[in-house]
Amino acid sequence: MNKLKTMLSAVALCAGMTAFAHAAPETIKFSHVVAENTPKGQMALKFRDLVAERIGDKYVVEVYPNSQLFGDGKEMEALLLGDIQFIAPSLSKFSKYTKKLQVYDLPFLFKDMEAVDRFQQSEAGQALLESVKSKGLVGLGYLHNGLKQLSANDPLRVPSDADGKKFRIMSSDVLAAQFEAVDAVPLKKPFSEVFTLLQTRAIDGQENTWSNIYSKKFFEVQPYITESNHGVLDYMVTTSTEFWMTLPDADREVLQKALAESVAHGNAIANDKVMKDRKSIMESGRSEIITLSDAERQQWVEVMKPVWSQFQNEIGAEIIEAAVASNQ
Ligand code: SIN
Repeated sequence: MNKLKTMLSAVALCAGMTAFAHAAPETIKFSHVVAENTPKGQMALKFRDLVAERIGDKYVVEVYPNSQLFGDGKEMEALLLGDIQFIAPSLSKFSKYTKKLQVYDLPFLFKDMEAVDRFQQSEAGQALLESVKSKGLVGLGYLHNGLKQLSANDPLRVPSDADGKKFRIMSSDVLAAQFEAVDAVPLKKPFSEVFTLLQTRAIDGQENTWSNIYSKKFFEVQPYITESNHGVLDYMVTTSTEFWMTLPDADREVLQKALAESVAHGNAIANDKVMKDRKSIMESGRSEIITLSDAERQQWVEVMKPVWSQFQNEIGAEIIEAAVASNQ
């Protein structure tokens, strides 16, 4: 009888342990390279909170900001290997997987963020989310950061001011061509290295959004920022087909909805951050903000715009046309 009791207890214990093991929520890792007080940082935290609220018994989202887990170049590989489940890289960092997204790097393509948004929501823009599908990646949506500015050790008013200067760029051949067009020297470097490269004067300048220039303190080591608005830095929230398609349908639906709401949250704060971070930089007195006259800006446009035709075949003329049309 005692033996039977012991056996039954052991069975009950095992069953309990199995139930407990099944009940443990699955960890979803969201890795990114920027600070938490940015549109992407805030979007990821919102996603973590919504998942906890709606399906927290099954999934827990861990957010790793500031290249803590993986930096540029490594995060996509890590995603494909299943080490992380979500990333939101800059659209400039996908050229290994698709050439079509290079459209977003063409200089002076979009007149403002409303035009960027119109293009992203258009049929052509939405189709680009699918352009990485054959590589095992799922583009779940666009997230805004904003337009890019040029920062440097010396004032940049006209293209010849950039002559011979070294600029850090993201891993994009279009961005390399853009700086080569003004006879500058582009260097592809990870985001996590930019501050030190600037501080040690290993490079002369870089291009980025107000939010990244502020949150990563680039303005403290760059005495001049030219408000050029010459290009866009936005993101594609991305997961892997392997992770996404093996989720139960109902869970995927909940996660997708939470993600869409988090992206909307990030997009809603992106515009405000532009104004707020620009103001904080101005008030810091560490960096002079240079406003270009129309004639000066036109010089940059004229020198950089020929880059479009260099990449037209890789990107597709119809995609460039659709992007141009979004300016109307
Ligand atoms: C980011 O905003 O994710 C990084 C941008 C950069 O690499 O400059």
